[in-house]
Amino acid sequence: MSILVTGGAGYIGSHTVLELLEAGHDVVVVDNLSNGSQEALHRIEAITGKSARFIEGDVRDRTLLDEIFATYPVEAVIHFAGLKAVGESVNRPLAYYDNNVHGSLVLCQAMAAAGVFKFVFSSSATVYGPDAPVPYVESMPRGRTSNPYGTSKAMIEQVLTDLCRADDRWSVALLRYFNPIGAHPSGLIGEDPQGIPNNLMPFIAQVAVGRLPELSVFGNDYPTEDGTCVRDYLHVVDLAIGHVQSLASLAAPGVHTYNLGTGQGYSVLEMVETFEQVTGQKVPYRFAPRRDGDLAAFWADASKAERELGWRAERGLREMLRDTWHWQKKNPNGYRE
Ligand code: NAD
Ligand code: WQD
Repeated sequence: MSILVTGGAGYIGSHTVLELLEAGHDVVVVDNLSNGSQEALHRIEAITGKSARFIEGDVRDRTLLDEIFATYPVEAVIHFAGLKAVGESVNRPLAYYDNNVHGSLVLCQAMAAAGVFKFVFSSSATVYGPDAPVPYVESMPRGRTSNPYGTSKAMIEQVLTDLCRADDRWSVALLRYFNPIGAHPSGLIGEDPQGIPNNLMPFIAQVAVGRLPELSVFGNDYPTEDGTCVRDYLHVVDLAIGHVQSLASLAAPGVHTYNLGTGQGYSVLEMVETFEQVTGQKVPYRFAPRRDGDLAAFWADASKAERELGWRAERGLREMLRDTWHWQKKNPNGYRE
């Protein structure tokens, strides 16, 4: 298939571009490089011997999108482009609604005008909201959201659902990711956050490599086994393969919702301890107050993706941590070298 990948120079997008190329698809990437790097695409070429076409630009630029659809025989779109920092979204709601919601609307309008109706969307476990019982199952309703980032994801899911209801030419896969970590085993592509990382795994990796002095563990009084929060971490390569396999669901019209997780949760302390065991690196940490908005524990019921797509996360925690460290050690400053 010929596939347009928005945000394909970012963390999950770049790993997905690699798996799409390996699976024999033609790939066009559009990315405004606000949080991605073209170097990732060069490295994908070095790994696979195949290349994606790269267009630097913004998904809110309708003229550019029209040109792309007129130039390339795009059959499906995988939409990663957007802003993703929960805390920042509270302070910059307009930027988040503009990038995420408005960007998705412009993209869908351009697709409809070009006669392209297959769409894969990067959604998030956050749409289940704080009151959902674990494990999260796709049949549960979306819950209330507590920050503009999460609300933007829920809004886009609703827009895409309404679109499918109105016009049965559309087929949409809503992929709800749990906590992606890790990197390609080559160590050539990985997560490269700008500034101080917000997320646990890049923070641990930067402490281990000496860029940051210590990890703050946010809260040790949660109702979990060791008092720290539990999450469903999955290997980014498994997640990328999940996108390739989700394309099969687009053969049928309508909305297809899938959790992409392992179904298993680990606590913050388990992450630190296992990282130390796997890599032999010390990760100094101290306990700090709870972070606003964090939930104690959640993980996926990932059985629907296995049943319907034949997808299952194959890579375990040790592999996720080994590959994170491999990438971090090889690229202590990310792509900026
Ligand atoms: P990322 O920031 O690494 O990738 C996003 C890419 O989109 C970047 O390369 C950025 O330059 C580009 N981009 C941003 N706004 C754009 C715009 N308006 N036009 C064109 N390009 C634009 O993030 P990621 O971790 O790879 O996440 C990808 C998607 O998955 C996002 O939509 C994110 O919300 C979603 N998601 C991520 C996680 C996670 O934990 N990483 C979890 C759930 C969902
Ligand atoms: C994991 C755990 C923290 C950093 C976020 C988004 C979610 C999705 C994935 C996009 C929590 C603890 C973290 C640190 C810590 N993104 N932690 N010290 O919050 O589960 O999910 O990213 O859709 O929507 O909310 O991931 O990696 O930030 O945190 O103790 O320095 O690690 O409290 O328990 P989270 P995370």
